[in-house]
Amino acid sequence: MVIRKAKKSDCEAIIGLRNELAVYLNEPKNYAWISAKDLERDGYDMTPPLFHCIVADEENGSPSPTVIGYAMYIIGYPIWEGREVSVREICVTEARRRNGVGELLLKELAKITLEGNFSRMSIDCPESLLASQLFLKHHGIDMTRAEGWSVLKFSKEDFHKLAQLQL
Ligand SMILES: CC(C)(COP(=O)(O)OP(=O)(O)OC[C@H]1O[C@@H](n2cnc3c(N)ncnc32)[C@H](O)[C@@H]1OP(=O)(O)O)[C@@H](O)C(=O)NCCC(=O)NCCS
Repeated sequence: MVIRKAKKSDCEAIIGLRNELAVYLNEPKNYAWISAKDLERDGYDMTPPLFHCIVADEENGSPSPTVIGYAMYIIGYPIWEGREVSVREICVTEARRRNGVGELLLKELAKITLEGNFSRMSIDCPESLLASQLFLKHHGIDMTRAEGWSVLKFSKEDFHKLAQLQL
């Protein structure tokens, strides 16, 4: 098993895992909006890519890689801490959980953060999700509790209204 950078040919497998994540999150409809083609375009046909991704591959080097987990991240620019690796999603297929794969993905993200000279690594996720347990085990700081941070989002309806606002 290796943790490696995702390739364009892994996008189909990543979508499979995202669909699994969607079922876990009870939001299958929302995830269906993104296809493997979207990931191929945004992650591999665009310069710079819109996201980065690493995968856990059980059969590295074989003609048919077996991707059992992934972590997707983007680069952020928090004003007081330089650049950050902002983890958007992390998932290990249910049948392979609790075998240390999540920790291997997290360790690779930490190496990427270090080697890229980034100042911080973060994830936004509901407290109820297992990913928060994984981050907390390795001393991730809960910014809501520690500093009162909120994660705010605009619904489609609201950002449509906002874009049309007469100011
Ligand atoms: C979060 C996730 C990636 C962890 O992957 P994993 O391979 O099972 O994790 P590991 O085996 O490396 O576990 C590492 C630590 O995470 C925590 N953890 C993982 N699964 C847990 C569970 N079911 N209950 C409590 N803590 C858990 C523990 O602290 C564990 O350390 P321990 O084994 O010493 O107790 C996986 O559970 C997952 O895909 N969950 C659903 C997706 C998700 O929550 N994604 C976040 C939204 S983006």
